[in-house]
Amino acid sequence: MQYDAVIIGAGASGLMCALTAGDRGRKVLVIDHANKIGKKILISGGGRCNYTNMYAEPANYLSKNPHFCKSALSRYTQWDFQALVDKHNIPWHEKTLGQLFCNQQSSDIVEMLVEECRNSGVAVRLKASLSHVKWSEISESFLLETTLGKIHCKSLVVATGGLSFPTMGASGLGYELAEQFGHHLIERQPGLVPFTMDKQWLAHFIELSGVSADVIVSCNGQSFRESVLFTHRGLSGPAILQISSYWRAGNKVSMNWLPGISIEEWLNELRESKPKAEFRSVLSDKLTRRLATALCTFGELKKLTRSGSKPINQFSPPELKRLAESLESWIFMPAGTEGYKKAEVTLGGVATDNISSKTFESQNQSGLYFIGEVLDVTGHLGGFNFQWAWASGYCSGLYI
Ligand code: FDA
Repeated sequence: MQYDAVIIGAGASGLMCALTAGDRGRKVLVIDHANKIGKKILISGGGRCNYTNMYAEPANYLSKNPHFCKSALSRYTQWDFQALVDKHNIPWHEKTLGQLFCNQQSSDIVEMLVEECRNSGVAVRLKASLSHVKWSEISESFLLETTLGKIHCKSLVVATGGLSFPTMGASGLGYELAEQFGHHLIERQPGLVPFTMDKQWLAHFIELSGVSADVIVSCNGQSFRESVLFTHRGLSGPAILQISSYWRAGNKVSMNWLPGISIEEWLNELRESKPKAEFRSVLSDKLTRRLATALCTFGELKKLTRSGSKPINQFSPPELKRLAESLESWIFMPAGTEGYKKAEVTLGGVATDNISSKTFESQNQSGLYFIGEVLDVTGHLGGFNFQWAWASGYCSGLYI
């Protein structure tokens, strides 16, 4: 079999690359070992696919080279993808913070991509895998050994995604191919992932499982204001998923339980307005009673507030200042993360050093391309990872 381009991975970036190249008249084959197209798209966004973000820009991405993503993101923007969604009359809405979701189901996005691929003459073969890749200098093409037989192609695109959610078809093939052609890998770790906490912490907070609150969470110079969710194994919710991408084992994380107000001013006002009120009771006005009680009976706050029973007028001004600081910078140390089985993305991956940010072609091997999450480019939570997949897929599709 002979193709102009073979794309490994029928996920977000692979399909976008395929339909773009197919549109240009290229003979394209997409191979995937999974039994369905776009499995991660199907489960994304709680089944409604948060397919892009209105405010997507390079600052929303982590990479050893923060400039690498700029070119593709500017050449295929969130509005370009939105135009495709509108062309297919897929109903959508902005949920929050510019996050665009399907109104109905994620399969709308998969069906749209499949239809575009079909119209561009792209062949997609599922339950197909690749065992060997060789570049021939004589024919200037790749020879692939696959379960479909031997395939020759001029361009080979690696769109195999990251390691998260192994049950959805994730594999390390893309990283192995990168190494085979002399690319180095940036250390990989789960990103956008819940934290686990130690036994002592859990013994106290497990009863809050299911409780959420609006917070600012900070680690290693990054902060996010979103909600935190207590789980039976630790902490999750958008704020935690976001900060997890900046966290490394052993780092402490800081939480502001009362964002948007000056806590010290609030406490000083209470000295006038509710001098005899117990601290736990005034905190319950701002948070839920269960959360306020749990916070007041743990760690430094327990000592400072006599388990929440200390009346406001019994705090000296320095004590109130310390109390404000404790609520504003409530420190916790995650025991770890839930790992790849619950991570939305993989941080790190194929180093961008020897890859063109314009074409996504390897500078080590002509005709070889890496796109999407397999690269060392990881977005924040909120549709940014799909936008990267669309943008890198589109740009590479112009050159293969
Ligand atoms: P993707 O993972 O989409 O595709 C890779 C493909 O390669 C898969 O089809 C896989 O089967 C195939 N493959 C892998 N190894 C292979 C091998 N050895 N042989 C053949 N085929 C192979 N992002 C976002 O922006 N908004 C959201 O709402 C969500 N929600 C979300 C929820 C959950 C639960 C997860 C796990 C992830 C998200 N994401 C997300 C992240 C998003 O899904 C992810 O970043 C993109 O799908 C990455 O696109 P890629 O094309 O790079 O990989």
